[in-house]
Amino acid sequence: MGVVVVAAGSGTRLGADRPKAFVELAGVTILEHALRGVLASRPGEVVVVVPQAFVDEARSIVACLDLADARAEVVPGGAERSESVSAGLAVLSDHVDRVLVHDAARCLTPVGVFERVLAALAAGAVGAVPGVAVIDTVKVIDAGGLIVDTPLRESLRAVQTPQGFVRGILTAAHAAGAAATDDAALVEALGHDVLVVEGDHRALKVTTPDDLARAERLLTDRWSALP
Ligand code: C5P
Repeated sequence: MGVVVVAAGSGTRLGADRPKAFVELAGVTILEHALRGVLASRPGEVVVVVPQAFVDEARSIVACLDLADARAEVVPGGAERSESVSAGLAVLSDHVDRVLVHDAARCLTPVGVFERVLAALAAGAVGAVPGVAVIDTVKVIDAGGLIVDTPLRESLRAVQTPQGFVRGILTAAHAAGAAATDDAALVEALGHDVLVVEGDHRALKVTTPDDLARAERLLTDRWSALP
């Protein structure tokens, strides 16, 4: 199993002086937090995708981690998230047949989420993504702001990462090249079934300064829960 960790976003909404993955959370970069979680899922390969100017810094971070037997590579990403995913997929070894794509920004994702996605793939799903119930009622609106639909809340899930797929299907989905905000949407567009497994509220995507503060509180809770 291989994991593509996408960390090549600029993180403009965080307002930091560096890309989001290289901002520190409780003294450790967001990228390092994310990679520790990824490595706990015992991947055979990890590809870390970062902005071109941060390839060396990412290599230093990876060099300090306990990779166990995992092969690790760092490559530059693209202007859009999907280009970054494609760049990562391209360097996975040929024998890797299942792949997880993970947002570095979801740096506190518990290992149980990785395990549930992997278990679904092992049970035969071609695609599996973690999702959590939606708290708000969600509306579909038109260009003028008028509500055109109110989907049944019980049928909605907010999806997270890691998103797992049979590698060949994900590669084909990216080659087909439609625009999408997650990988599952590209695979769905090819007509494949994608299963939603239970996500976790701790897999939040750090996007704004408020999220960073929330993630710090989650870390403090985790540490204070240690024996
Ligand atoms: O921008 P967004 O919040 O959707 O980014 C989700 C993840 O995708 C982040 O971890 C970010 O670093 C990554 N990304 C990327 N390349 C881009 C844009 C986003 O690797 N061009």
